[in-house]
Amino acid sequence: MRALCWHGKSNVSVDTVPDPSILEPTDAIIKITATAICGSDLHLFDGYQPTMEDGDILGHEAMGIVVEVGSAVTKLKKGDRVVVPFVIACGSCFFCTKTLFSCCDTTNPNAKDARKLMGHSPAGLFGFSHLLGGYSGGQAEYLRVPHADVGPIKIESDLPDEQVLFLSDIFPTGYMAAENADIEPGDTVAVWGCGPVAQMAIQSAWMLGAGRVIAIDRVPERLAMARTAGRAETINFDEQDVYETLNSMTQGRGPDRCIDAVGCEAHETGGIDAIVDKVKAAVMLGTDRAHVIRQAIYCCRKAGTVSIPGVYIGMIDKFPLGQAMAKGLTLKSGQTHVQRYTRPLLEKIEAGEIDPSFVITHRLPLEEAPGAYKTFRDKEDGCIKVVLKP
Ligand SMILES: NC(=O)c1ccc[n+]([C@@H]2O[C@H](COP(=O)([O-])OP(=O)(O)OC[C@H]3O[C@@H](n4cnc5c(N)ncnc54)[C@H](O)[C@@H]3O)[C@@H](O)[C@H]2O)c1
Ligand SMILES: [Zn+2]
Ligand SMILES: [Zn+2]
Repeated sequence: MRALCWHGKSNVSVDTVPDPSILEPTDAIIKITATAICGSDLHLFDGYQPTMEDGDILGHEAMGIVVEVGSAVTKLKKGDRVVVPFVIACGSCFFCTKTLFSCCDTTNPNAKDARKLMGHSPAGLFGFSHLLGGYSGGQAEYLRVPHADVGPIKIESDLPDEQVLFLSDIFPTGYMAAENADIEPGDTVAVWGCGPVAQMAIQSAWMLGAGRVIAIDRVPERLAMARTAGRAETINFDEQDVYETLNSMTQGRGPDRCIDAVGCEAHETGGIDAIVDKVKAAVMLGTDRAHVIRQAIYCCRKAGTVSIPGVYIGMIDKFPLGQAMAKGLTLKSGQTHVQRYTRPLLEKIEAGEIDPSFVITHRLPLEEAPGAYKTFRDKEDGCIKVVLKP
């Protein structure tokens, strides 16, 4: 089959690789009909995520048609149309039974390495380094889906792929980000970033009762999407001081809830912390550019909540835990427990409450994925979200 393979920093290509096959009786194989590129893929593309190996197949936002099931699969059959969560979960361990699927205890075959680094191992993820399982990803013609009875959600209506594809990641991620923000009715929610995850967080913040949503970025078309599709007020961090503006918009109190939908590759226009991060990352002394999480903690209202869907990878210095403590902030983060949200969020799509396809700007064949990675990373050509069709 053809698949998008990683070969090093900024180096991906579509190669011919062996087709996947059933390895466990609980596996299914799906033929991919639509798959997307995520901001998380950029952390791999940009060389921030360790334990990638030459030839690894990327991609964790995929859907398609079941073409084969293992002998123990009972809920899926050949021909079913499914969306696959990026988190691989067993459904029956301590964490899965608490619906904490991204903490599944059993799906990372390299748990020993992850434990050494983090104390405990999170779940395996599709297409996301060997530290997180070494599973082949879904930017390919076919995908092996472990625990096929637990993850994939069947699409039984005739909704087009583009409307349901993002149940694999960014819609649940934006929703969990808003849920983690503990929004109370009427709260002012500030969202850092206007990328696809942020756009879903903005939509979800309204669903969960926000009174006001303020979105922060510097890319004009992303800010415009936050204003039009997201009904948010916006701040361009290249043109406005974020702290001063948020304070003046909230009579000095600061936003009640802050969502960092940027993560470890934040840009900044001069702050000393950001310059130090950049230098350290360039000489391999650090992995993360943590400007946004620092700024969110600084700007957040006292006793507010900072929700962190943005991915961080390594150790962060100059982390203002003292500010967070003194202001009584709650911080929440995590890879999304996707399986917890697929059913209720599909129901919202089916009810016409939201059509997540509004973020899509580029539709391309899989063969054009290498160029699309660059276009998406460099925010060229108005690119906000790329969907690939194998
Ligand atoms: N927790 C999860 O399970 C999960 C799932 C999916 C994605 N993510 C993470 O969410 C983050 C966003 O993903 P995405 O697909 O939207 O990525 P993206 O790269 O398209 O969006 C990031 C946005 O942040 C903006 N930005 C950069 N610096 C900023 C700053 N200082 N202030 C405000 N905005 C700034 C960029 O201009 C860009 O629009 C990534 O870190 C990704 O890895 C997490
Ligand atoms: Zn993702
Ligand atoms: Zn589990």
